[in-house]
Amino acid sequence: MLDEKALDIVKETAPVLKEHSHEIGMRFYKLLFSKAPELYHMFNQTNQKRGGQQEALAYAVYAAGENINHLDAIRPLVMRISEKHRALGVKPDQYQVVGETLLQAVKDVLGDAADDEVTDAWRAAYKYIADVFINIEKELYDKTEHAPGGWLGFREFIVDKKVPETDAVASFYLKPKDGKPIASFKAGQYLTLKAAIKGEKYTHMRHYSLSDAPGKDYYRITVKREDAHGEAPAGIVSQYLHKKVKEGDILEFAAPAGDFTIVNNDLPIVLISGGIGLTPVISMLEMLVEKLPERSVTFIHATANSSTHVMKERVEQLAANRDNVRSYVCYEKPAEEDIAAGSFDKEGYIDLEMAQINFAKQQSRFLHTILLMFIIKE
Ligand SMILES: Cc1cc2nc3c(=O)[nH]c(=O)nc-3n(C[C@H](O)[C@H](O)[C@H](O)COP(=O)(O)OP(=O)(O)OC[C@H]3O[C@@H](n4cnc5c(N)ncnc54)[C@H](O)[C@@H]3O)c2cc1C
Ligand code: HEM
Repeated sequence: MLDEKALDIVKETAPVLKEHSHEIGMRFYKLLFSKAPELYHMFNQTNQKRGGQQEALAYAVYAAGENINHLDAIRPLVMRISEKHRALGVKPDQYQVVGETLLQAVKDVLGDAADDEVTDAWRAAYKYIADVFINIEKELYDKTEHAPGGWLGFREFIVDKKVPETDAVASFYLKPKDGKPIASFKAGQYLTLKAAIKGEKYTHMRHYSLSDAPGKDYYRITVKREDAHGEAPAGIVSQYLHKKVKEGDILEFAAPAGDFTIVNNDLPIVLISGGIGLTPVISMLEMLVEKLPERSVTFIHATANSSTHVMKERVEQLAANRDNVRSYVCYEKPAEEDIAAGSFDKEGYIDLEMAQINFAKQQSRFLHTILLMFIIKE
């Protein structure tokens, strides 16, 4: 642990660093990629171009600094990051170059305000925080490797089936090339794809939620094709998956990861999703119906209209003849045939009124115990 003086400095300066985390983050990545260009393969280069992600790492270090003597308070954040690091293959020795570069970026951005006392205190704080991550990630690597069917790093999978769901969304059924068992997963977890695409300078890592129930001899992911829009170019990996990858092709994935999973109890659950954000919650719904058929589930989904509505029939099938499973659909721009068929419950967006009506249909004594799963993606 840090000495008293260093602790005081870290806690005092953390808010200032948080305030500058965007600038520090920008400088940090510039320095990092010049020192360790191999990291271009690991970090999402589109996130780098779009901005927004640059400050995430620096911000998390400063948030940890603020909580340094009670890191348990931010354990959920630490676990989420560590799960992602494990999926991406972050190694203990990489913490050093990241730490040194972050300190350099702080000095470059803050100038004289980051004197020796401040940088020494943060060097010690970073080491302490990095060790927490390294230890958690070591446990995650061990667990992943030793789980039945588990593996370290990336494993080859054959695209066994590629099934269109809508015009812009397709499901990929993946079987391991080595024919051996695959690790089970918790509904809500994701696979990480390492895509080496012909003509691309770097490999691209992308995460895809597992969209079927656990316990099968395949994994399924369901991917939306990101087309060019306005100034934004088309998405690199989703275009590749949709346009180039065909049945029989090989793709490389890291073992299931992620902490966005269902709390194991028998309380009613409300799953809310928008667009392709349906993927983890459809996995949860499949799992609940299969493994916990008594649990009360409300499935609320919003999308543009029936032409973009992924797995509509499957959700209807799961809700049919089950009093404890309810499905509500919200269409932003219903088509004429949707209106004629009455195939949705509300026009527009999910709002509090809709949510309240649906919650009120559940027994009121449960109202305060509802678990909300919010995943809204563009
Ligand atoms: C935990 C997790 C689970 C996920 N699960 C799923 C899932 O189940 N299904 C799914 O389809 N996706 C899922 N995603 C998203 C997925 O990982 C990818 O981000 C998605 O497929 C887009 O990747 P891409 O390479 O096609 O697009 P990218 O090339 O990464 O581009 C992303 C977006 O940025 C825009 N863009 C690109 N360059 C610029 C620029 N210079 N300026 C402005 N905009 C730009 C693109 O038009 C595109 O819309 C998940 C993400 C996470 C983190
Ligand atoms: C204590 C040190 C670290 C902290 C606090 C930290 C924090 C974070 C955070 C907050 C994210 C975003 C998570 C998310 O999107 O859900 C992230 C992502 C990531 N981290 Fe770390 N990180 C640390 C060290 C490292 C190291 C040593 C590496 C390896 C070089 C690394 C590589 C990555 C990568 C590749 C991503 C994904 C980012 C992207 O592709 O855009 N991190 N980290």
